[in-house]
Amino acid sequence: MEDYRRLLLNNKAWVEDRLNVRSDFFTASASAQTPEYLWIGCSDSRVPAEDITGTQPGELFVHRNVANLVVHTDFNILSVLQYAVDVLQVKHIIVCGHYGCGGVRTAMSRKDLGLINKWLRHIKDVYRFHSEELDAIGDEDQRYNRLVELNVIEQVHHISDISFVQHAWHRHQRPMIHGWIYDLHTGELKDLVKIDPGEHAHDIYEYDFNDTK
Ligand code: CO
Repeated sequence: MEDYRRLLLNNKAWVEDRLNVRSDFFTASASAQTPEYLWIGCSDSRVPAEDITGTQPGELFVHRNVANLVVHTDFNILSVLQYAVDVLQVKHIIVCGHYGCGGVRTAMSRKDLGLINKWLRHIKDVYRFHSEELDAIGDEDQRYNRLVELNVIEQVHHISDISFVQHAWHRHQRPMIHGWIYDLHTGELKDLVKIDPGEHAHDIYEYDFNDTK
């Protein structure tokens, strides 16, 4: 049997399992989605959002990319964010990075990997913003782990800088934004940073709104 066929067979078994637990599972989940969480994680195959958070289909709205970046000119993530905030009205946005992230590791190096250099460049910027702290860490693995953390913190702030997120704060006092780190070695999530509605890293990113908008 070709390897990929295993996935299709697994699907049949999964459908049976679901129906055994709840006979109307698919009827119920097909009607609508009302997730309370937007998950922004790394594409890394070892960090499956639902598995590590014990969540079920319908609970997480998910976006994953290399090194869990929130890039202000990326229409893909901006569309996911705007839909999640304005239409799904999620209560929480979670940016989840992970120790051992290949994207962050590569960004710390001088490797030329072609197109992806452009994407990883955003992590090099994070390094530059925090170079004083990072350069003072002698141990390379510790410096790498800290850059993983700082990268998550920066992405959390990027979300708080977005005007439609601030607009949702202004009108609805949501969403809360969280930065977490997953540890591949232990399977545990670390709660690193939290931004409540209305908090800003710097005034320069704050927009004014009037209630008629
Ligand atoms: Co990664």
